[in-house]
Formats: sequence, C-alpha cells, structure tokens
Amino acid sequence: MNSNSIVGVLAILYRRTLNPSDPTDLSDPFAAVSLQDAEITAPVARCFALVPCAGSGSRAGTVMPKQYELIAGQSMVMHTLNALLSVSRLEKIVVVVSPTDSHVWPVETIRPIKCGGATRAESVFNGLTQLLAEGEKNPEGVQPSDWILVHDAARCLITDLEINRLIDACLDDEVGGLLALPLPDTLKVAVNGRISETLPRQDKWLAQTPQMFRAGALHAALLSKVSENFDGITDEASAMEMAGFAPKLVVGSPHNFKVTYPPDFVLAEDLLRSRA
Ligand code: C5P
Repeated sequence: MNSNSIVGVLAILYRRTLNPSDPTDLSDPFAAVSLQDAEITAPVARCFALVPCAGSGSRAGTVMPKQYELIAGQSMVMHTLNALLSVSRLEKIVVVVSPTDSHVWPVETIRPIKCGGATRAESVFNGLTQLLAEGEKNPEGVQPSDWILVHDAARCLITDLEINRLIDACLDDEVGGLLALPLPDTLKVAVNGRISETLPRQDKWLAQTPQMFRAGALHAALLSKVSENFDGITDEASAMEMAGFAPKLVVGSPHNFKVTYPPDFVLAEDLLRSRA
C-alpha cells in the first residue's frame, strides 16, 4: 500500500466517523475499506516549496543579508528560485522573509510571506503555520497531506535534477526525506583546538536541502518544539527524528553547499558561470 492509499483509507474512515449517515456512503461504517476505494478517494498529494530566506547571514561578512548578494549577475536567492521554478511538479513556491524585509521580487510566480522568525526553524514553522491556515479555507492551498519541500535560500547551486531525484525517491515514502552526502573526510572531535577523538565516518552523512515531508507531520513535529524555542532543531529532518520518524537519505551533490563564508561566494560564482 503506498502512502497515498494510506491517506485514502484514513480519509474514508474519517468521513464515516464524521458523517455516518452520509447518503452517498452506503457501506457499513465498520466495513473494511478496499484499496481500490482508497486510491479513488485519496487526495493526490501535491508538492509545494517553502524557502526560508529570513536570515541575516552574519558569517558571510556581507553588508546586506547574504541571500540578496549578487552572484553571477543576480541575487543568490534568485538562482535558488530559478532552480525551483524549473521543476514543474512544484505547485507553488513560497519565500519566508523577515517582517522588515523590503526586497522587490522580479518574478510574479514567487510569493514572499513576511513571517520570518529569530531562527531558521522558527521561520519554517511560521511559514508552514500560515500556509496550512490558508489551506483550511481554500482547498487549493497547502493541505496536511501535501508534501512540502523546504530549501535554503542560501543553497543557490541546487539543480532541477537533484530536486526531481528527491521527489522521485520520497513521493511514495511514508515519512519523506532529504538530500544528503556521505561524509567524504575523516571526522575529528576537537577540544581546545586539539583532537580528542576520531569518529567512524561510515555511517555519517552531511544533511542538505531540499528536505521533503508531509506538511501536517512536519508542522506537528515543529509545533512540539515551540516551547523549547526549537532547541536542537537545525533542519526539518531533526524535527522529524525527534518526533520518532526516520527520514530517508537521498544522495545529493557536493555542489549543493550552503553559501556561508566569504570564500563560498567566489566558488558559487565560478560554478554558476560555468553552467551558463
Ligand atoms: O544562517 P544559515 O545559512 O544557516 O541559514 C540557512 C537558511 O535559513 C538561509 O536561507 C536563511 O536565510 C534562512 N534563515 C531564516 N530565518 C532565520 C535564519 C536563517 O529563514 N532566522
């Protein structure tokens, strides 16, 4: 049974519970739900993208927030958004910006929402809360069973190929997952600038974005961490892990690094120009 069928079974049982006298539902409310029924009734899960873009980028040493710095002729975030825009399976792309952000967006298909928070986790949580609230009033909006792909504005080297690879790998998965890379180097633990331990690297991965989860499940996972100020939540997968799920690892690309420090801008510029 794929995940859409599971959603379908739940939808049928939910409808029967809510409205056992539904004249269109002639079956015994306790009768087994057939897989065929479930597949017909299952809302088709759609994919939406949410781009946290409310950081100040203090480590980048730039005057304005790093996501608006020009790289290879356009702002870093526009490179990111162009990659997302080229994936036809994404219904809508929403960018979470800070409440004081006055950036002018050159593309109408991008929707900025001004609800960024103090941390990345808070920005994602606020954005998702707004989208799900809108979805309650409008079926075209994000529904809890829809997939949400969260992608850092600062990962401007993502490509449609990698985004599609993630969607293909997760669309039928019960949990969802993320792009990541097996750790290539030896991992050391430092104490006061000196090595105290070498860790085995065989089972270690570097997490990237996009990270793709059901909107309702991700929202619930983040909601349970609000009272702790999202402590320990450094990406969506960590929130899902703390909620008891095991996200799927999908091999990404070394080029999909997060532009963080000054030298990263030079590398990103070179790579983007080499693609032109
Ligand atoms: O700071 P860092 O590079 O780790 O941020 C990753 C992404 O999260 C960036 O795209 C940044 O704009 C976003 N972010 C956010 N709200 C914050 C902090 C970071 O949307 N408060």
